[in-house]
Amino acid sequence: MLITISNIIRKEELESIRATLNKLSWRDGASTAGVDAKSVKKNQQADLSSEIGKILHKQILEILQVHPVLLSAARPKRFSRLIVSQTRGEGHYGPHIDNALMETGGRLLRTDLSFTLFLSNPDEYEGGELSIQYPGFTQRHKPSAGDLVLYPSTQIHEVAPVTQGSRLACVGWIESTIRDQMRREVLFDLTNLKVSMSNKYTPQSVEMLTLNKNISNLLRHWSET
Ligand code: NI
Repeated sequence: MLITISNIIRKEELESIRATLNKLSWRDGASTAGVDAKSVKKNQQADLSSEIGKILHKQILEILQVHPVLLSAARPKRFSRLIVSQTRGEGHYGPHIDNALMETGGRLLRTDLSFTLFLSNPDEYEGGELSIQYPGFTQRHKPSAGDLVLYPSTQIHEVAPVTQGSRLACVGWIESTIRDQMRREVLFDLTNLKVSMSNKYTPQSVEMLTLNKNISNLLRHWSET
């Protein structure tokens, strides 16, 4: 399942994030690519190890970690460190598959889900679509600034060349408590159903109790904690 979550970053927050990005230093993005992806990665990455970079990292991560739709769709166990990239002047990130395991906080994180948080509006750059490949077709994404595309890390994907302007984006990975994507989708659908049913049924109704029971029992059955 792939979803776009609109306005995960509000306009005021986005302005403050972009103002901070102007103060950071940038380096060659190939430094953080895996061995196979290094040769196809042509972009710059913000140095988030400075004091101001750490604050920015925390600011973005704290927004993502509490967003109800992201939590429901991804069921995160852990988030990777975030990367903020800038792509311009024919920069791109050619077709690749993300590393399956990433060193995060002294432990390996299994990348179940990848996400791209767009920090530039589509009218600020030409090209730069996030393209995700499926057998027989390619999905292209170029949403508004503040929107996040969440997709399974199992897919080959790329960032098309940016032929004009500059594309700012933040990317990261999630290890899910629910490893299997079909199971995550079942839980996502049931959770959405619960939200819509709560307008019609009381929490004590047999309908809501039964739904809650089954969501809880599936979580017990499927979660890796
Ligand atoms: Ni990637």
